[in-house]
Amino acid sequence: MSAQHRSATRVHVDLGDRSYEVHIGAGLSSSPACLDGLQLSGDAMVVTNDVVAPLHLETWLPLLKARHAHVHTVQLPDGEDHKDWSTLNRVFDALLGSGCDRGCTIYALGGGVVGDIAGFAAACYMRGVAYVQIPTTLLAQVDSSVGGKTAVNHPLGKNMIGAFHQPIRVLCDLSVLRTLPEREYHCGLAEVIKYGPIADWAFFEWIEAHAEALLGRDVEALTYAVRRSCEIKADVVGRDEREGDLRAILNFGHTFGHAIEAGLGFGRWLHGEAVACGMVMATQLSTRLRMVDVDVDDRLRRLLVRCGLPDRGPAALVPDRYLELMRLDKKARAREIRFVLLEGRGKAVVRSAPDDLVRDVLIATTASA
Ligand code: NAD
Ligand code: GLY
Repeated sequence: MSAQHRSATRVHVDLGDRSYEVHIGAGLSSSPACLDGLQLSGDAMVVTNDVVAPLHLETWLPLLKARHAHVHTVQLPDGEDHKDWSTLNRVFDALLGSGCDRGCTIYALGGGVVGDIAGFAAACYMRGVAYVQIPTTLLAQVDSSVGGKTAVNHPLGKNMIGAFHQPIRVLCDLSVLRTLPEREYHCGLAEVIKYGPIADWAFFEWIEAHAEALLGRDVEALTYAVRRSCEIKADVVGRDEREGDLRAILNFGHTFGHAIEAGLGFGRWLHGEAVACGMVMATQLSTRLRMVDVDVDDRLRRLLVRCGLPDRGPAALVPDRYLELMRLDKKARAREIRFVLLEGRGKAVVRSAPDDLVRDVLIATTASA
């Protein structure tokens, strides 16, 4: 075992016979131990993309070649625009073209887009094969790689075609985050911050105290932040894998955030930026419903801004447009919007709110033109 991997930490995702470990540490690719305990008899198919492959593929290949007789790769075009059926088909083409059988293992090496596509391919190929997540963005390490939600987009909606299919392992190598562009890194911090108000207020206070270290990508601070985020996510997923209701709290900030992304056109604001602003909106709504102190709103806002994230909505979106878009949210029932709101510090609930109050919040939290 390498020195680096000895210092790696693990989080258990408890899902009965579909349980798995998340390994977190710097330099995991150089440690064979990170694949210990897995039955890896067949071929490997590494699914990655045009941006990540030149940066990180070579680092991972020796580890995989030591465990698989044949290691194939498929390189997808980069970006959310390509998270669709035709890109998914490229994975199936590669699997069939390489003669991969039911015993194969798919490795998703990339951010959330690659992870979601590769995971969905694993859910469908020959009615389901094993896959390992190797998330290379902070957002993917603290959120999308854990929990088994896989999907591609449909022209009529984001993540509309997908499946629940759990990975057999998640390898969060903190070393890969060195090459992540600043804006993407900040988006990952938004998802880390998210876990504090919804599940662990002490964690929120820890992030406040360690914001500079996190912004500097300090490995010790990152190890704790990724571990605690994965622990919280694992706990929620372990109790509500298929999103009966509890799991929806992980979408704090996402109802407003998705409306910003869709309303401006996908790609104008990054997902984490829209979620950051959405968390401010949801917190204000919670304070106006007297569910949480105003102090929570102030502190969340200050922390997000310190982490390079927006705390005000775009001037181009008016409240009625938000309401229209939010009625299409997956949590909505009979066109009634359901928000993830804070009920005290470190606790969230899903509930509706009067449209007029939502309009007031949107007016108060939108940048002036
Ligand atoms: P992404 O996968 O598009 O990655 C962002 C950008 O960073 C891309 O250009 C990517 O190629 C690049 N990149 C990745 N790793 C890099 C590295 N180490 N160095 C340099 N560049 C790197 O975006 P994301 O933010 O990782 O994920 C967003 C996606 O995740 C969305 O499609 C969203 O729907 C999905 N998601 C899924 C879940 C889930 O539970 N399945 C949860 C949250 C988000
Ligand atoms: N990212 C939200 C979820 O996994 O449920």
